[in-house]
Amino acid sequence: MAQLWGGRFTGETDELVYAFNQSLPFDRRLFFQDIRGSLAHAEMLKRQGIISAQEGDSIIEGLRAIQNDVLEGKLTVGGNDEDIHSFVEAELIRRIGDPGKMLHTGISRNDQVALDMRLYMRDETDGIRKLLLSLLHTIAAIMEENTETYMPGFTHMQKAQPVTLAHHFGAYFEMFRRDYERLGSVRERMNVCPLGSGALAGTTYPLDRELTANLLEFDRPCDNSMDGVSDRDYVLEILSSLSIIMTHLSRLSEEIIIWNSNEYGFIELSDAYSTGSSIMPQKKNPDIAELIRGKTGRVYAAMNSLFVTMKGLPLAYNKDMQEDKEMTFDAVDTVKGCLKLMEGMLRTSTWNSARMKESATMGFSNATDAADYLVRKGVPFRDAHGIIGRLVLNCISRGCSMDELPLEEYKKESPAFENDIYDAISLSACVSRRTTKGAPGSVGEELELIRKWFIEEE
Ligand code: ARG
Repeated sequence: MAQLWGGRFTGETDELVYAFNQSLPFDRRLFFQDIRGSLAHAEMLKRQGIISAQEGDSIIEGLRAIQNDVLEGKLTVGGNDEDIHSFVEAELIRRIGDPGKMLHTGISRNDQVALDMRLYMRDETDGIRKLLLSLLHTIAAIMEENTETYMPGFTHMQKAQPVTLAHHFGAYFEMFRRDYERLGSVRERMNVCPLGSGALAGTTYPLDRELTANLLEFDRPCDNSMDGVSDRDYVLEILSSLSIIMTHLSRLSEEIIIWNSNEYGFIELSDAYSTGSSIMPQKKNPDIAELIRGKTGRVYAAMNSLFVTMKGLPLAYNKDMQEDKEMTFDAVDTVKGCLKLMEGMLRTSTWNSARMKESATMGFSNATDAADYLVRKGVPFRDAHGIIGRLVLNCISRGCSMDELPLEEYKKESPAFENDIYDAISLSACVSRRTTKGAPGSVGEELELIRKWFIEEE
């Protein structure tokens, strides 16, 4: 057992207690953040004259050497220390002796862990935003290539009105762009430095909190030391944002699974992104989409778990907060993996435009347009709705599409029908006539805005 405390104790910690309490097996992930925070703290202690220049330099050199050894594989982060902060401090003291004992001046593991986690989550937020941007590029490329790829749009899983693949993916573009921006706003809010909060009530040393905040690229130090050590709102906000990302990925996965079914056949997944069956030789399964859909649960679980952990905690630090790590790390890894795989799966898939067009034609998705045609000829919409409904019935009994129904049949229902009905209900007319902002006929403008947005963002 290797802990930083013990002076006040006469008895040994029970082994089970030590293992239960120990966080090094998982907070070892915060090693680089811990070193970074300690370097900034030592630099500040030195500049403020709280420790001597010599002591400061020796601590800084020692910390850098530890970091190098880990990078070069000469030192493994792990072992019997209680947590990552104890690991670094013990290693430092082992290497440089007494000056190493000065590092913990005016700092507590409570503000240390608050800092490490914030630095870590800030980096991960940036990484996830990059992955979102790359997914957005792939979606925009699908949109650019498919402004004339017609497909049925659905409500209640029933063919509703024709759209294009570009328009359908435009909806996902908007979702993932909101995710990107949502994480951006969380990042702005979380960018305050807890270092210098001490255990909860600051310290009596003349710390320069502005300096450490600056060295660690924060906008400013936090305004209240009790909040500094107990705030995990940013983790909750990030986990909420990650849950929404997973919701979007899961909905898209669900659509890919449906589109990939034999009945639909809209999409062909590349061999690299699908899997086979051990018994049924004909199978090409969308396992990746299913796994993304399936992994959504664990990200929601991480969010729920931390909400429950935090809800009853009095101020300030409580050990419960150690539970903010494992599931959050898992959620971060999961989301990163899912974003990468969704991007690759979409980039390598091909679209069966003939199949999509046939599906849009056969499902009466142009019935609203046929009614609108009558309205343009002076028939009130409610009457037009009834007329087209009867024509749809007629088509169903003949087993044909509206495009294939002879003009005499149209005329039997209304004299307003002329030969131009066929043009009016063609898929290209149905789509290109819908030019209200945001409609499938305006995808060109949406793409224009998207291109500009990429330029501003990058
Ligand atoms: N391992 C702890 C955590 O993750 C670090 C802070 C410990 N502070 C304390 N007073 N025991 O929250």
